[in-house]
Amino acid sequence: MAEIGQNIQKAKSLLEQGELVAIPTETVYGLAGNALDAQAVSKIFETKNRPSFDPLIIHVGKIEQVSKYVKSLPEELKKLAEKYWPGPLTLLLPKKDIVPDLVTSGLDQVAIRIPNHPLTQGLLGQLDFPLAAPSANPFGYISPTKAKHVNDQLGDKLAYILDGGECQVGLESTIIGMEEGEIVIYRLGGMDVAEVESVVGPVKVLSHSSSNPKTPGMLKSHYAPRKPFVLGNLDTLVEEYEQKGEDYGVLSFEKSFPGLSADRQVVLSQKGDFKEAAQKLFGALRDLDEAKVSVILAELLPEESLGRAINDRLRRAAAQ
Ligand code: TXA
Ligand code: MG
Repeated sequence: MAEIGQNIQKAKSLLEQGELVAIPTETVYGLAGNALDAQAVSKIFETKNRPSFDPLIIHVGKIEQVSKYVKSLPEELKKLAEKYWPGPLTLLLPKKDIVPDLVTSGLDQVAIRIPNHPLTQGLLGQLDFPLAAPSANPFGYISPTKAKHVNDQLGDKLAYILDGGECQVGLESTIIGMEEGEIVIYRLGGMDVAEVESVVGPVKVLSHSSSNPKTPGMLKSHYAPRKPFVLGNLDTLVEEYEQKGEDYGVLSFEKSFPGLSADRQVVLSQKGDFKEAAQKLFGALRDLDEAKVSVILAELLPEESLGRAINDRLRRAAAQ
């Protein structure tokens, strides 16, 4: 198992040696390596068992550093960056040659963001290279929102996990780029569409539920628990699985099921709060995946606010 701690100096020196370190961000934990070191980057792909056609996000500490890695920052996207960085926003921008092709899987745009977490900000402030970091989970599995989640799955392949506690947002960043002058959201995430639109006006949201995605990595089956995961009306599903005599677990938005023991159900937010639900989602999926149940039953949230991003994850979890 990996060493877990809050030692920025230790993380820094491992990263400088080309090693990987798991880092906390406000969205999810990242599996970080020196983005300018192709060997460290290829270690990331290996460790996650991630196909090389699925590009990585690079993380920097300050907006002034972005221009070292990208050729331009269109005015509209700059407005978003200035308002929401550091935060759960990733921009797709034309890359400079200094960014290895491996990072972008050969694409000419690089995904870049400034994460909002004091430990990782502290770390980035001391590094003279950006960090390439995908979510710190094996490819296709649920993203980690606690150091323990990282350790459970990648602990034996990692030197160090920087422990920043539980992620506050709990959903990956919202990925935004431009196509023919139009702003496009490629991945719904921790930054609400309404927040984006309040700055730049109406945007196009691409549906990722494709098995031949335009954006690599936007694969249909993703964020998936190992157990069968069924989406639908929970009252109907519970009745059906009760009759079948199966040991089911339940993931609900607001409602609890009094007949079910506590270890077989998670309520994302009793008060129906989308932010709270987002923060708890991935931990809940993991808990139910590890619980003594053979199938997980879940329901979609209202298709508004962060409910859209949460539903995107739930649909992909169900698309095994
Ligand atoms: O919140 C987050 O974004 C977290 C934290 C660690 O920053 N990172 C994260 O990375 O979710 P990952 O690798 O799990 O998801 C990144 C997504 C992938 O679906 C990938 O295909 C897409 O971003 N992506 C990365 N670079 C891209 C590029 N150059 N063009 C298009 N899509 C890109
Ligand atoms: Mg991921």
